[in-house]
Amino acid sequence: MKLYTTISSLQATLKKEQGKGFKIGFVPTMGALHEGHLSLVKQAGEMTDIVVVSIFVNPTQFNDANDLANYPRTLDADLEKLATQRCDYVFSPSVDEIYPVPDTRRFDFGNLETVMEGEFRPGHFNGVALVVSKLFNIVQPDKAFFGRKDFQQLAIIKSLVLQLKLAIEIVPCEIVREMDGLAMSSRNKLLLPEYRKCAPAIYQSLMEANEFSLDRSVAEVKEFVLNTVNGTGLLKVEYFEIVDDRTLIPIQSWSDTGIKVGCIAVQAGKVRLIDNLIFNINHK
Ligand code: PAJ
Repeated sequence: MKLYTTISSLQATLKKEQGKGFKIGFVPTMGALHEGHLSLVKQAGEMTDIVVVSIFVNPTQFNDANDLANYPRTLDADLEKLATQRCDYVFSPSVDEIYPVPDTRRFDFGNLETVMEGEFRPGHFNGVALVVSKLFNIVQPDKAFFGRKDFQQLAIIKSLVLQLKLAIEIVPCEIVREMDGLAMSSRNKLLLPEYRKCAPAIYQSLMEANEFSLDRSVAEVKEFVLNTVNGTGLLKVEYFEIVDDRTLIPIQSWSDTGIKVGCIAVQAGKVRLIDNLIFNINHK
């Protein structure tokens, strides 16, 4: 495994690998790696010849300066974790390397960027698109791996690839959870103990909502999730929506066609957590 911090050195190496006909798999991350990230790296290793992981805390996707300042930065530990996987190259550039001048591009993702995370984190997805388009351009991967944990981000990335007509296959990867069901996240380590203790209620309520959806209306299921999570007394629901998998438009009724995904954002003290679940009950 080799670490690169400059675009030119990484590209010189990748050019040689591509020249040998090797397929490149790319896993973009912001570091503070956990088993969720490593599952993406593992999948990349199974599906491609050369695995590139980027570690870059992207300032343009943070709409809250405190969140950016507090975001965990643990490069040495990250490299140790990556060494346990088949990871060939790590790219960990400085902010100047990625943004030598401000990037003023403005993407248009329509409805995909205005609902849910887009509503509560204005500018977030434009920042994600800025950095991912730059990283795609630098790495030129054949396949790129993204977690379903960030369900809306995945929809944005698929749209980005279509808009820019990139020949990159986006591979969605399953959500990895802690033993108690909490979706793994770099932010989990910032949770105060009392919040960590009740955080599994998020996934628990999503699973119960899935069951309840058999004999309750969409509105009743939404109310149930709000009441259950807020009922912990510590967690506060920012939004809970049941949306169509492709359009991200909230469904009105269980008879709506398409795959339905329950998406939730919760404030746990100063830490913001997101999770989602595909509703897989067959409604008549
Ligand atoms: P980050 O939050 O570090 O996540 C990097 C990748 O790991 C994303 O594709 C995310 O969905 C995936 N991931 C995180 N937790 C996961 C879990 N519990 N199970 C499965 N996959 C998980 O997402 C970003 O960084 C950034 O927005 C980025 C795409 C790197 C652009 O800056």
